[in-house]
Amino acid sequence: MSAPVIVAVDGPTASGKGTIAQALAAHFGLPHLDTGLLYRAVGRQVALAGGNPDDPADALAGTAFADPLLADPVLRDEATGGLASRVSVHPAVRAALFDRQRAFALQPGGAVLDGRDIGTVIAPEAAAKLFVTASIAARALRRWKEMAARGDARTLAQVEADLALRDKRDRSRAHSPLLAAPDAIVLDTSELDRDAAIAAAIAAVEERLRG
Ligand code: C5P
Repeated sequence: MSAPVIVAVDGPTASGKGTIAQALAAHFGLPHLDTGLLYRAVGRQVALAGGNPDDPADALAGTAFADPLLADPVLRDEATGGLASRVSVHPAVRAALFDRQRAFALQPGGAVLDGRDIGTVIAPEAAAKLFVTASIAARALRRWKEMAARGDARTLAQVEADLALRDKRDRSRAHSPLLAAPDAIVLDTSELDRDAAIAAAIAAVEERLRG
């Protein structure tokens, strides 16, 4: 049997990596895992238990969340994203979520995973690695539009400040920081609309898979 085709999609918040990963999964007929959702579930579980996301033991206890929590829309909130970014700095939390992500990556036929450390830690052997990025101004504008459409009154400046904080935490943590793998294809979506970003990602992955 041939080795599974693993596609790793990493990048910062609101870079478009989630949309791109979903589109790649549909295009190549592969299952998709949004690994950010796992960290969001941990952050949410810690909050539900009244714990402190900055405390390693409380954060680790949050990894025992029940799977139905993954379907809770509250996981998509900015507040939960902030909690996820705080629990994700703890090495024990990352270790507790490793096997689940690794097993998903290694399923027969392969998979698309998106996150921060897929190409560097979870599946360094991935056949194709994309690092999706965009300027902070472009990412803040996208996120602000999404939030405004949902009735959230936060200003563009507030959204940009939150993103900058999350970027700093994700890039500077000691364990598995947000980092492009040396063999990743960097895709800057600052100037691309949704369809153009997806088309560029598909073309890049197809080229990589052709070898
Ligand atoms: O991608 P998303 O915004 O849902 O991720 C939420 C947070 O979870 C990120 O800011 C990051 O701190 C953390 N995360 C991570 N490693 C991943 C996926 C997400 O540390 N593979």
